[in-house]
Amino acid sequence: MEKQQIKEKIEKLTRELNKHNYNYYVLDDPLISDYEFDLLLKELESLEKQYPEFALPESPTQRVGGQITKKFESVAHKYPMLSLGNTYSKEELEDFDKRIKKLVGTGFSYVCELKYDGVAIGLTYNNGKLVRALTRGDGVTGDDVTTNVKTIGSVPLVIYDDDLPQEFEARGEIIMPHKSFMELNQQKQDAAEPLFANPRNAASGSLKLQDSSLVAKRNLDCFIHGILGEDLPLQSHFENIQQARSWGFKVSDYTRKCKDIAQVVEFIEEIEAIRSDLAYDIDGIVVKVDQYAVQEKLGFTSKFPRWAIAYKYKAEQGITILEDVKYQVGRTGAVTPVAVLKPVWVSGSSVKRASLYNSDKMSELDLHFNDTVFVEKGGEIIPKIVFVDKSKRANDASPVHFASQCPRCNTPLERKEGEALHYCPNTDHCPPQIQGKIEHFISRRAMNIEGLGEGRIEVLINNNLIRKAADLYKLTYNDLFGLEKVITDEETGKQKKISFREKTVNNILSAIENSKKIPFERVLFALGIRFLGETGAKKVARTLKSIDTIKNSSYEELIAIPEIGDRIAGSIVEFFSDPRNLEDIQSLQEAGLQFSIREAEKVQPGSDLPLQGKSIVVSGVFSNYSRNQVKEIIEQKGGTNVSSLSSKTSFLLAGEKMGPEKRKKAESLGIPIISEEDFDKMIND
Ligand code: IVH
Repeated sequence: MEKQQIKEKIEKLTRELNKHNYNYYVLDDPLISDYEFDLLLKELESLEKQYPEFALPESPTQRVGGQITKKFESVAHKYPMLSLGNTYSKEELEDFDKRIKKLVGTGFSYVCELKYDGVAIGLTYNNGKLVRALTRGDGVTGDDVTTNVKTIGSVPLVIYDDDLPQEFEARGEIIMPHKSFMELNQQKQDAAEPLFANPRNAASGSLKLQDSSLVAKRNLDCFIHGILGEDLPLQSHFENIQQARSWGFKVSDYTRKCKDIAQVVEFIEEIEAIRSDLAYDIDGIVVKVDQYAVQEKLGFTSKFPRWAIAYKYKAEQGITILEDVKYQVGRTGAVTPVAVLKPVWVSGSSVKRASLYNSDKMSELDLHFNDTVFVEKGGEIIPKIVFVDKSKRANDASPVHFASQCPRCNTPLERKEGEALHYCPNTDHCPPQIQGKIEHFISRRAMNIEGLGEGRIEVLINNNLIRKAADLYKLTYNDLFGLEKVITDEETGKQKKISFREKTVNNILSAIENSKKIPFERVLFALGIRFLGETGAKKVARTLKSIDTIKNSSYEELIAIPEIGDRIAGSIVEFFSDPRNLEDIQSLQEAGLQFSIREAEKVQPGSDLPLQGKSIVVSGVFSNYSRNQVKEIIEQKGGTNVSSLSSKTSFLLAGEKMGPEKRKKAESLGIPIISEEDFDKMIND
């Protein structure tokens, strides 16, 4: 190709990919498969590598991230980033309306928007190109997080529009949708890392990651709620954000023009009713005067605009009594305090527990037994105590002190330098640690040993049949048959009998036997090395290929693996320096588990390949897997991923939101359409 042709090709691919990106992230309506997208992206990537002089600043290859920000530069905002006055009642809202009318009369209307619960962001565009993304900071200067923000699919890197102002700033909110939040916390849990308390913290933590390729994996989203600039042609806020939408920004459909405050109240009530169905957190509604001329007349107080206000939905709170503080011990020995409360009804469910996080958070609250406490159900995973009513405290009430000993095995607790959590160091004999480790080992994404849920592990531990994962492989029919235990469900108080009958025992034994075929990368994850999650384990296993190489790798060799950082590398080295772990691994090796990639591959051709010889087209979104996970499973199970339907396609695997065109085409070719549920059955049978 001529140089000129290459330049044009790069330009064309860039434009095309940006368009697909927009369809996917902003319109939620992709026109091509992820696979096809990846092929185009790879083509562009390789051209850019050969001809870096032609790479465009808005290239979608930037979204993959990879740049490291050592320190986020502090930069002055061109327009200060103000916050809003809050109201919590309809009366206060009416006062707001009266104040405005008194100042400017009646010739104006309102616009209502969602108040997204995320991280405020200002995006500056120069000649249509995203040049800077600043967080709010103190409102006057913010942190430059441009590299990280560029990885967010719904933020346009470039805007193609001839009438664009030379420079403007889009203001919005970066949020983490519930789905991404749950996935992230699941990964954290797998790696025995502390969880994020809510999506807002997760979004804010993600924006401050130094490695932008990790940010790219956090699935953040960005809603725009305003455009600022010198020469904006429009007269009203509503027109302005519709304009923003046409430029390619994500603007919520839940945005409404209201002619008076009664309509505003209506909108607030409508949204309150559907609030829990939204895919992300909001904490209220923002009400803005629509007309710029009126906004200008109203101006600002020292802190807020007079033309806008936030109506905050009531935090869902309850008042109750603190009965006790209990401690949970995790598989790594981390001890977390939990408040035991007199049950109280908060927005639709009974609350009996509240998170107390760690000893520092607990002392901040200065809790005493029998205190009257306010619990709140925010975006939090479990409710939290937000306030202690000290006026109701009896004079002789005794303070709650953080445990000094493990609540289960009485070993004195330790707190490592710089860590918020206390640990029980009795790793080998503390029952919840033993149980937690085995539960992790057998979990679906690790060794996938079914049939041992519902407290069965506890029964085996209590009967001295298992103390570590390797013991599972020594269990016999006679060990298990006839065991039983009555357990009481803590939530409902109902009693349930767990028994090991013939069928259960056979199922358990065959699940244990089958787990010997689980590939090495999952065995590595199952070992429960602290901080080493599913993805990390995959990377390490695929790079180093066997347990012996990993065992003999230095910290430097480990940290050289992409995505393996300081903490994980350190934790792997620590794990393998403990002779007890080496002994456990040896027992598992003797039991016949896969401890190298090659061995795992040898087993694969044969019985466990239900998709052998099938070519499969994947389309739409899935509830239990990401699209990439689905493709990976297809490959693992012997199938081939193909990008487009043809008479040779074995079947179309259809998630939700698959385009109607795909369905039509499959039907016309007579290709079976398989649902996620059917697929699950296929791969698990
Ligand atoms: S307008 C001067 N609109 O809430 C007006 N803000 O308390 C500035 N927020 O820092 C803000 N959703 O990050 C506006 N639809 C929305 C919003 C919104 C969320 C955040 C924003 C701001 C804070 C103000």
